[in-house]
Parts: sequence; C-alpha cells; structure tokens
Amino acid sequence: MQIRILGSGAGGGFPQWNCNCANCRAVREGAPGFLPRTQSSLAASANGRDWVLLNASPDLRQQLAMNPVLAPSAEDGLRASPIKAVVITNGDVDHVTGLLTLREAQPFTVYGAGRVLQVLAANRIFNVLAPSCVAREELPLGAPTELKGAGVDLGLSVEAFPVAGKIALWLEDALAANYGGAEGDTLGLKITETASGKSFFYIPGCAGVDPALAERLRGAALVFFDGTLWHENEMIDQGLLGKTGTRMGHINMSGPDGSIAAFAPLNVARKIYVHINNSNPVLNAFSKERAEAKFAGWEIGEDGMEALL
Ligand code: MLT
Ligand code: MN
Ligand code: ZN
Repeated sequence: MQIRILGSGAGGGFPQWNCNCANCRAVREGAPGFLPRTQSSLAASANGRDWVLLNASPDLRQQLAMNPVLAPSAEDGLRASPIKAVVITNGDVDHVTGLLTLREAQPFTVYGAGRVLQVLAANRIFNVLAPSCVAREELPLGAPTELKGAGVDLGLSVEAFPVAGKIALWLEDALAANYGGAEGDTLGLKITETASGKSFFYIPGCAGVDPALAERLRGAALVFFDGTLWHENEMIDQGLLGKTGTRMGHINMSGPDGSIAAFAPLNVARKIYVHINNSNPVLNAFSKERAEAKFAGWEIGEDGMEALL
C-alpha cells in the first residue's frame, strides 16, 4: 500500500494568506529550515493506479499538479481520473472544499459520517458533484467498509471511529451545548489493505487521546496524527487568535497532556504529524521543539512525503 501526504498544513496552509507571524514570514522569505505546506489531505492506493483521497483540501488542484500519479494516464479515455473515492473526516473547510475541485461529471464515491453528508446535502454548491454521477456513502462507525468508486474496488477498507473533537468552526452554534457538536463530527480512520491486512491510521483532528483511542493505536505500524499546535496557548501567546487548542478541538504536542506524552507508551512503529498549524514552532527545522518531537520518535509531515506498508 502506498500512502502520500498531499497537504501537511492545517486550515489556512503555510504560509497563511493573511498571517504575518514569525513562521509565516520566514517561509515567505524562503528562510532555511522552512517549507511551505498546503492544506490537510492524504492519498492512498493498494495498486498504485486507483487512489482514495483522505479529505479534499482547498489546495487540491495544486496538490494534483504536484503529484502526477493522480493525473489521468495516457491509456485512459478522454475523461478519466485515478481518484475513485474520497473519505471525509469532518466538515472543516480545509477538509471538504476540495470536493468542489472534483466537479466535471467524473464518477467517484464520497464517504463520510452521516452528519457530514447532511452538511454537504444542505449546501447546494456541492451539487456540482451531481448525485447521478458521484455517490455519497455514509460510513458506519466502528465497522469496516470496502472502498469502491466508479465501478472499481480499491482493495482497501476504511474503518471510521469517533475521536474527541469539535464540530466544524463554521457550523458552530454558540448557544447550543458543545457548540452543536455530536459524536461522529470528528472521525479517525483506519485504512486496511485487503490483500495484505496491513493498515495505518489517519487522525488529522483530535482533541485528546482517551484510553479507547490509545488501545486502538497501540502497536500500530503507522499513524498520521493531529499536529496542529505545539502548545495549548500558542495562538494566544503569539497574539494571533484568542483561542486555546482545547477550544479549537486540537490536542497540543507538548507537555504532560500532549500527544507526544500520550503516544510514548503505545509502541507505534511510525508516527507522523500532519495538519500542522502555521503557528507551530516545529515548522522550523532548527527549533528546539522540532528536536524534541524528533527525539520522541515523531516525523513532521511534509507535502509529497510517501509511506509504504
Ligand atoms: C480546524 O482544524 O480547527 C479548522 O480547520 C479551523 C478552520 O476552519 O479554520
Ligand atoms: Mn482543520
Ligand atoms: Zn502565521
């Protein structure tokens, strides 16, 4: 199974269009140790020909240009795409708006939790993916689903499971409990190659590693995990936004309540941070925070990074 990071940045990407923080300035200036990052998405394939996208970011068009394996090949017909399915983990702008790039009457299947599919159905602009052409399949939680699209069996299954998180920012209801969120608004995914049984986890948004999630991940071969923030208060401390990580639905990397500590006893063979926010000091390859994450066995995801299982 081949897995490719299409976008390793969080919402807004790196640099973010309107951000003048030290990181965004450095990457804009081409400073050593800083790489630009597009917004949050992965692609996976069992046969190297047919691919599933895990989230569809607003930068999808650029990501397709950077990853020619996702372009139609010469043997294909006039209209074709290796992208046979898209699995959505939540309703975030950075995870759903790339669907609009996939218009043009190309058949594939969109998989998501029932509540996310309701959001797509309620926003008529997503009808550019004509229901007669693009299938929408609700993912059951806690049970595997064989991925199929455009008449092709991808040879992969997905098991979606709820993780601690938050309803998408643009869907928040300030007056409702939990901002109107409910179970299934934030999914983790386990993708398994049917033929080999090999699997990896993709959890780009997660507010905390509870015991159930820890047990699920224990001994995993490969986990892509929420790397939004280094510190719970970094957005506030940098004067960027008056919100903590907890309020945004993202666990921090550092500290006793962070993901580095939570993963330390889990014996995960390869762990890669994705969905990295532009405020995160690990984006600087020469920072002490990057060294600390690496020392704890973490890789910092980069656009175009590939993993084989
Ligand atoms: C998030 O991950 O918290 C969202 O992508 C934030 C946003 O919508 O900008
Ligand atoms: Mn996001
Ligand atoms: Zn910034």
